[in-house]
Amino acid sequence: HIIVLDFGSQYTQLIARRVREIGVYCEILPYSMSIDELVERNPSGVVLSGGPRSAYEPGAPMPDLRLLKSGIPVLGICYGMQALVHALGGKVARASHEEYGPRTVMIIRRNPIFEGLRRKIRVWMSHADYVKKLPPGWKVIARTETCPFAAAHDRNARVFGVQFHPEVSHTDSGTRVLRNFVLSICKAPRNWTMKSFIQSTIDNIRREVGEEGVLCAISGGVDSSVTAVLVDRAIPRLTCIHVDNGLMRKNESKAVKLLARTTGLKVRYVHAASRFLSKLRGVTDPEAKRRIIGREFIRVFEDSVPKHRRPKFLAQGTLYPDVIESMAHRGPSSTIKSHHNVGGLPRRMRLRLIEPLRDLFKDEVREVGKLLGVPDEILHRHPFPGPGLAVRIIGEVTKARLRVLREVDWIVVDELKRAGLYEHIWQALAVLLPVRTVGVMGDRRTYRSVVAIRAVTSRDGMTADWARIPESVLEKMATRIINSIEQVNRVVYDITPKPPGTIEWE
Ligand code: XMP
Repeated sequence: HIIVLDFGSQYTQLIARRVREIGVYCEILPYSMSIDELVERNPSGVVLSGGPRSAYEPGAPMPDLRLLKSGIPVLGICYGMQALVHALGGKVARASHEEYGPRTVMIIRRNPIFEGLRRKIRVWMSHADYVKKLPPGWKVIARTETCPFAAAHDRNARVFGVQFHPEVSHTDSGTRVLRNFVLSICKAPRNWTMKSFIQSTIDNIRREVGEEGVLCAISGGVDSSVTAVLVDRAIPRLTCIHVDNGLMRKNESKAVKLLARTTGLKVRYVHAASRFLSKLRGVTDPEAKRRIIGREFIRVFEDSVPKHRRPKFLAQGTLYPDVIESMAHRGPSSTIKSHHNVGGLPRRMRLRLIEPLRDLFKDEVREVGKLLGVPDEILHRHPFPGPGLAVRIIGEVTKARLRVLREVDWIVVDELKRAGLYEHIWQALAVLLPVRTVGVMGDRRTYRSVVAIRAVTSRDGMTADWARIPESVLEKMATRIINSIEQVNRVVYDITPKPPGTIEWE
């Protein structure tokens, strides 16, 4: 496999995804991990990611140079290259021309990393510093008009550096550069397929769980559905429960029923709407809502599975981006909102956690789900937060306000599907504001609620941009909402990217 050492680039995850698309397993680890531990993992190659710092700044993160003596091939990308150059006695400096965006790279010397490429390629650059002088023993292999060392290598060690981003789709032949590194230079075996993943995961679950029981809470979303079906393939004693907390979208339980019908899972339905709503009465603070809902989930779990019959394990649909986010050196977003799936459960209930999807990206989960026979309708659903519609109702959550938002949400999603846009958008949602505005309908004054529509494109939910939905589709949504939902007389569209906004409003 390939290890990406993360120096904090926004593209780090993309490198891992590209490598996996080539068919080679790739994991991301912090740049500071010990060299002994790294070598022990026996990777075929190591990629040093880009990063936001300047290599010459005091305290800038540096690679451990013993890595270069290990004989493992190394590729430094952007900051990764600059850090290598700086650490090895070359020179990195502030560029007089910062390079952001597309540039043409001229390949000036044949090299295995550029095998099969034309002499000139369009690449994606994103750097303010540049390599001014190469370290002893390094040779330049490519340049741009303003960047004399756009790519270089050390002829004696198997070390390569590129200033551009081969992992970004705007780089022509970027995948070819990564393939050259991973397959030709590192000689990594291409054995990462979702089929082999399923088989090895089933074996691991069997080994870990043995004869014990496993509990899995399924929401009707992609991750918990695929987790449940995978665990069910592995062991005979899986208990699935679906908690209706009253904060679900319209027809949410239908997705769970569809899953049960098509995969043969047996699901217990727990109706707990009134418990959640009474706990939320009068609460308006977003964090308080999240905490209350998280706590109530635990209580519902405890009440619905008697102590003496409680399974030893809890299966949860944690994905790789969550794992990376929670690595110590990263993840301010985890403190922006207290996210929860059913995260508080194990400590209180003394359940041991199994997270069979924790090495996968969302698109890989979808592929696994497909191979396991999970219906497309579930696999392509937009993400939905654990606290549900409660964090999309600004102000107090009441039955009446839930009814309004549920209808609005249904229309937004339905219009997107009709326009063929649903699968091109990461997530679309509606927010009910605690604001009334004046309108006019049939010559009469109205004074009713405002709803906001939010639709975003994203790769993983960590950053996002507002979706450029055609005006005609937005118009249909707004007209249908106002004509069919009496309590609403104004619809607005949210055009805030993340950052600075988050995807959910609370
Ligand atoms: P934000 O609002 O933080 O959301 O930009 C990023 C993604 O995470 C989802 N989200 C949650 N998912 N439990 C979850 O399982 C939560 O508490 C939660 N809060 C937000 C959100 O819908 C988006 O896809």
